[in-house]
Amino acid sequence: MNKLRLGFNCDHVATLRNARGGLYPDPVAAAKQAIAAGADGITAHLREDRRHIRDADMRRLRAEIAAPLNFEMAATAEMLALACELKPHASCLVPEKRTEVTTEGGLDVAGHLGELGPYVAKLKAAGIRVSMFIDPDVAQLDASVAVGAPVVELHTGAYAHAHSEAAIARELARLQTAAAHAAKIGLECHAGHGLTFENVGPVAAIPELVELNIGHFLVGAAVFEGLDAAIQKMRALMDAARR
Ligand code: PXP
Repeated sequence: MNKLRLGFNCDHVATLRNARGGLYPDPVAAAKQAIAAGADGITAHLREDRRHIRDADMRRLRAEIAAPLNFEMAATAEMLALACELKPHASCLVPEKRTEVTTEGGLDVAGHLGELGPYVAKLKAAGIRVSMFIDPDVAQLDASVAVGAPVVELHTGAYAHAHSEAAIARELARLQTAAAHAAKIGLECHAGHGLTFENVGPVAAIPELVELNIGHFLVGAAVFEGLDAAIQKMRALMDAARR
């Protein structure tokens, strides 16, 4: 089976830095170390309120890291302008609410086709690979094709936060069905949100997935085990699930 790419989301290294102001810990240094330890790419979300990653971090990630950079962004004129200037490898369009703690659900592509189409077109014209962060839902997958996106990232939050065995199985089945449908309609399929050492295996085993983006848990695990060990362990769990 194809190797599954691991994208390391360095947002929460910036969260820690911003808690005290100053320069440490540096999310760009963490991104470099994650790549050296076996991550395949870096993801960073520049939120409207700049609560973790800042514009200068994005510029440095683009300038200092050769591995693919996935710029997570809301569909706003401000973010579009910055993405078109920086030209990251990829941009993932996410919904954004100022009051949420994290990206709580997927983007409603089906409900906003007309608004999202021009953003996708402009990002693609800048040579950026565009993905839509969506719930594992056939209507959202079909809408992602309609809007011109070549890639989707399935929101794994409902799976990751399910407690009962029945709920976990139901959410996993939704991810499996969505990934199979994505492949059928020609979308490259990624997944992420809330993934941990404990729950990554069944998701990594979904054969149509080509990339997982993981952040918060890895930054937390790095406190106990070190970032290299955390990345290597996640990489090993993903590879084992693939075999
Ligand atoms: N992918 C996307 C599109 C996200 O918005 C996030 C969270 O910022 C992640 C992946 C990573 O999620 P987590 O930090 O829970 O691993």
